[in-house]
Amino acid sequence: MSVITSLTDKDRIFTNLYGYQPWTLQAARGRGDWDNTKALLDLGQDKIIDVMKASGLRGRGGAGFPTGTKWSFMPKTPSPERPSFLVINADESEPGSCKDREIIRHDPHKLIEGALVAGFAMRARAAYIYIRGEYIREAETLFAAVQEAYDAGLVGKNACGSGYDFDVFVHRGAGAYICGEETAMIESLEGKKGQPRLKPPFPAGAGLYGCPTTVNNVESIAVAPTILRRGAEWFSSFGAENNRGTKLFQISGHVEKPCVVEEAMSIPFRELIEKHCGGIRGGWDNLLAVIPGGSSVPLVPAKDIMDAPMDFDGLKAVGSGLGTAAIIVMDKSTDVVRAISRISYFYKHESCGQCTPCREGTGWMWRVMERLRTGDAEIGEIDMLQQVTKQVEGHSICALGDAAAWPIQGLIRHFRPELERRITERKGGGLAPMQEAAE
Ligand SMILES: Cc1cc2nc3c(=O)[nH]c(=O)nc-3n(C[C@H](O)[C@H](O)[C@H](O)COP(=O)(O)O)c2cc1C
Ligand code: SF4
Repeated sequence: MSVITSLTDKDRIFTNLYGYQPWTLQAARGRGDWDNTKALLDLGQDKIIDVMKASGLRGRGGAGFPTGTKWSFMPKTPSPERPSFLVINADESEPGSCKDREIIRHDPHKLIEGALVAGFAMRARAAYIYIRGEYIREAETLFAAVQEAYDAGLVGKNACGSGYDFDVFVHRGAGAYICGEETAMIESLEGKKGQPRLKPPFPAGAGLYGCPTTVNNVESIAVAPTILRRGAEWFSSFGAENNRGTKLFQISGHVEKPCVVEEAMSIPFRELIEKHCGGIRGGWDNLLAVIPGGSSVPLVPAKDIMDAPMDFDGLKAVGSGLGTAAIIVMDKSTDVVRAISRISYFYKHESCGQCTPCREGTGWMWRVMERLRTGDAEIGEIDMLQQVTKQVEGHSICALGDAAAWPIQGLIRHFRPELERRITERKGGGLAPMQEAAE
């Protein structure tokens, strides 16, 4: 199969991403949403899951787990005492990520229709959309859109005339990043402090209220109806093997025109930036580094990212990850040590404090990062910091520990001379390594 890595308008799923048209049900219907949804449900649960598997869609919340496979883990005959639930993750608190809010405020019916289709496929009784507290206007839109869907008989009893009863609830969070982690989200929905659970059991076995639950990202759910209408083959014609489909990229930082845009997976970085962002501020020679997947993935230096395919495997190959495809571009005016130190502060602030390596390690790492920023450190502390990141990584209940460790590892891997230069200069010990190299 040939690989399409560049998208045209006719293949865009999110046709109202910029809000040029109203978000309302009437306008959404004009864009093709809720068009004979009953026919999609008539395909039956197993067929829907088969199409989703064949489409190659991988979760858009960061980890990239295959969506159809995830749905297939749900019980085929849920008991009345333990109904199944779909939880839709609209917490979107990863620095750099800002795609789910565009879907919710401009195209909420794609999400609600997706909730019905996905919920039906996994035999769920209801969907809970957990939206981050700061998204006030977006939550207002979502509440209103859900009400429209109820009023039109699209959700609720006998949803879309299918004979299937399905409720959609919107729940506002209170602004904690950790509530984006799926089990912390479930705890929070249950009215408890948002702290991740130990796994196993996984949510598909015991999730919300102890019932089988699947947690999916907003984008993963919102694309489902279009995939079912246009077919798995259409969706999988975009992107490289194992990285299929279209994807919302969020490009911020030092480009001429920051934007959120739907593109084909695997589009090369340079093409993405030239096509949609008007290039790098000050030209390509001015590019320093890029954080390609939201603040939790390691940065990639300019030379490695230029031609990298923007997908799961392409970014793994350059030592980073696609994450949520929140691309933070840094030109040469960036104080990269300060930038990573600020990210370390974020993780220290957002650690829920349950496990010692994360609770203590995030604070420890941030304090060392701050001293490296000012150069008030010993050269040996760079390796010590690296060791601490290794002691945090993989040793905590949830992936926040990894997320705190990886940006620092990326900095040390690619910018060690800069860290050493600051220490040497601070000590007044003659020419700094980077200056020497330049002379
Ligand atoms: C600290 C932390 C924060 C997270 N925040 C989000 C988030 O805001 N949105 C999201 O969709 N997934 C987030 N995730 C990932 C979720 O735990 C989960 O993997 C995801 O919602 C699954 O959806 P998907 O399979 O559709 O990608 C976060 C994970 C961690 C560890
Ligand atoms: S890794 Fe950090 S955020 Fe996650 S459970 Fe442990 S302390 Fe909480």
